[in-house]
Amino acid sequence: MSKRAVIFDLDGVIVSTDEFHYEAWKQMAEDEGIYFDKKINERLRGVSRMESLEIILERSETLYTLQKKEDLAERKNNYYRNLLNTLSEMDILPGVMNVLKALKELGIKIAIGSSSKNTPFILERIKLDGYFDAVADGNEIKYSKPHPEVFLLAAAKLGMDAFECVVIEDADAGIEAANAGGMKAVGVGFAANCLNAKYRIKDLSLISIDELLKD
Ligand code: BG6
Ligand code: MG
Repeated sequence: MSKRAVIFDLDGVIVSTDEFHYEAWKQMAEDEGIYFDKKINERLRGVSRMESLEIILERSETLYTLQKKEDLAERKNNYYRNLLNTLSEMDILPGVMNVLKALKELGIKIAIGSSSKNTPFILERIKLDGYFDAVADGNEIKYSKPHPEVFLLAAAKLGMDAFECVVIEDADAGIEAANAGGMKAVGVGFAANCLNAKYRIKDLSLISIDELLKD
């Protein structure tokens, strides 16, 4: 039997917003005089906004109050939202539209499973709102990846069991979440090197739909 649904992560899988997350955190870290680089940024993939902030603050000696942390997270989100204002369909990553169309033609259900609270806004900007059979995002979950909650929610919205679903992710935390949820994990982009992914490809233009959907 082969898979009946594909759940896509958003940032770094569907659209290049992972770059904007990096730029926005970098700006916030610079404001605060905290060291931040691309290597630290890789640990933020798939992780919620507040958990990302905690990782960045590991490099700071300052003790921040909860209020100050919330202010910093909000400041980062404002930088990020400014960058998102420039987003368009042009930022959809290579191969994405072909894969989505091919899956739709095969009658395979498609969903988004993202930790981001900005998911609805991003889908609107890239004109894919209403395109997916289900969307589960950071506004609806308690635990972010590597917890499987967002993927289990996406599967439930599709009316699918976990074993019927494939997850496509660019984050190690997302691959871990898919495995923890009992779903097949596919690694793209940064997660193309993740040994815990069952199928690994550099980007979606290189995907084999047979390989994607097989058990
Ligand atoms: C994930 C990103 O998709 O969303 C993380 O990979 C980000 O880097 C998380 O921290 C939360 O995003 P937002 O938009 O709610 O701040
Ligand atoms: Mg991602």
